[in-house]
Amino acid sequence: MRNICVIGVGYVGLVSGACLADLGNHVICLNRNESKSDNLKTGIMPIYEPGLEEIVRRNYAAGRLDFTTSYDEALKDVEFVLIAVGTPSGAEGEADLAHVNQASEGIAKRLRQPIIIVNKSTVPIGTGDWVADIVRENMPDDDIDFSVVSNPEFLREGSGVYDFMNPDRIVLGSLDPGAAQRVAELYYPLQAPIIITDLRTAEMIKYASNAFLATKISFINEIANICEALGADVTEVARGMGMDQRIGPLFLGAGVGWGGSCFPKDVKALAHMAATHGCHPQLLRAVTDINYDQRKRVIQKLRDMLGGFRGKTIGILGLAFKPNTDDMRDAPSIEIIHMLQHEGAQIKAYDPQAMETAKRLLTDVNYCENPYAVAEDADALILVTEWNEFKQLDMMRIKSSMRQPILLDGRNIYDPRRMQEMGFIHRGMGRGYNEVV
Ligand SMILES: NC(=O)c1ccc[n+]([C@@H]2O[C@H](COP(=O)([O-])OP(=O)(O)OC[C@H]3O[C@@H](n4cnc5c(N)ncnc54)[C@H](O)[C@@H]3O)[C@@H](O)[C@H]2O)c1
Repeated sequence: MRNICVIGVGYVGLVSGACLADLGNHVICLNRNESKSDNLKTGIMPIYEPGLEEIVRRNYAAGRLDFTTSYDEALKDVEFVLIAVGTPSGAEGEADLAHVNQASEGIAKRLRQPIIIVNKSTVPIGTGDWVADIVRENMPDDDIDFSVVSNPEFLREGSGVYDFMNPDRIVLGSLDPGAAQRVAELYYPLQAPIIITDLRTAEMIKYASNAFLATKISFINEIANICEALGADVTEVARGMGMDQRIGPLFLGAGVGWGGSCFPKDVKALAHMAATHGCHPQLLRAVTDINYDQRKRVIQKLRDMLGGFRGKTIGILGLAFKPNTDDMRDAPSIEIIHMLQHEGAQIKAYDPQAMETAKRLLTDVNYCENPYAVAEDADALILVTEWNEFKQLDMMRIKSSMRQPILLDGRNIYDPRRMQEMGFIHRGMGRGYNEVV
């Protein structure tokens, strides 16, 4: 059993804290908001993440997990402090490190015993050294030992608990191999491969991984657009490509593109780092451009089908940036809805989890109780997020309540032929063959 403090109770901090407690450690999670801490103690989660509430409740009840807003309380007797605060995009696309700075200063000022600072936030290359400098400058006593270990997190929102407990690999980077080894021991129960490297390389592994995944999606979206022009079906193309072991089947789903709290900001931050160090990140820029064009493409397709949006009602199925999360950060739905509203459309929408968050971001939207209510009197439906509950809808009921049976499947979850047989005017993303014949 180890004493661990986790700073930040978002998707990474809360999942990491709860899972480390579940592995038998004593974990105290620090955040800045008293009511969030009180809520967590009563089992009310600040975010939606499948399975998280149960694991938080169980470990809090067992006395292995606690919550506080006090640095003094959080840092008392801990051996490890995990930084899991947000690193959003700054004005130029760079990662904004204000929260990491605050957390590092907060740790330093209350340093009373030797600790290992484990950085789980996604941070620019070199941040580990910078954190060490901040701690050295602010610590009350120069003789206290501390080390910084980079431990980038790879969990996916929507399956965060599973991913934390079943990682493909654990990456640790430090100038102090002994400290990295001690962090590795925290993860031994997970029986995952562990890579121990230097700080900067560990930080780079995270950015390179996210940039590669975003590239894969933008690649297939570009192929999808070419498929449409040439009469091929991208879903079959992706299946055929994915069976090649060098390529693999994952992240080859064509659609409205990626969003969320990580890919957009991480690709931008990597491009920014590259550009400010004399490199030309052409691929990274193209990856981002293709992604944002994909959202415009949805509007263009629908405009072609409807002949314009003024006076039209468009139903949106799914608002979260992906299924199984309530996260709306840079969700494609936001830009798509803004563009539709700008061109005069009325919007109806439904999402199983993200509507409360969406209400703070998207105004003049008729938020509906279910997908059927969205379809009522709609001139067109756009499937934006592929929640499971949209996969087996009563499509005849949907069609019969719409003003016009226009269906734009932004994630290719419906069979184009079946939809056409049912009488929908259906468009997918990159499904040229099905739309030509
Ligand atoms: N969300 C993901 O799927 C994911 C996956 C891997 C890595 N990451 C990275 O992990 C980091 C955190 O992401 P997230 O999605 O969990 O963010 P988040 O916005 O959900 O959570 C951040 C948390 O940090 C808290 N916080 C900020 N400054 C603080 C401070 N000074 N003291 C205490 N708490 C503070 C916020 O209140 C919030 O609870 C980011 O760098 C992100 O890129 C995220």
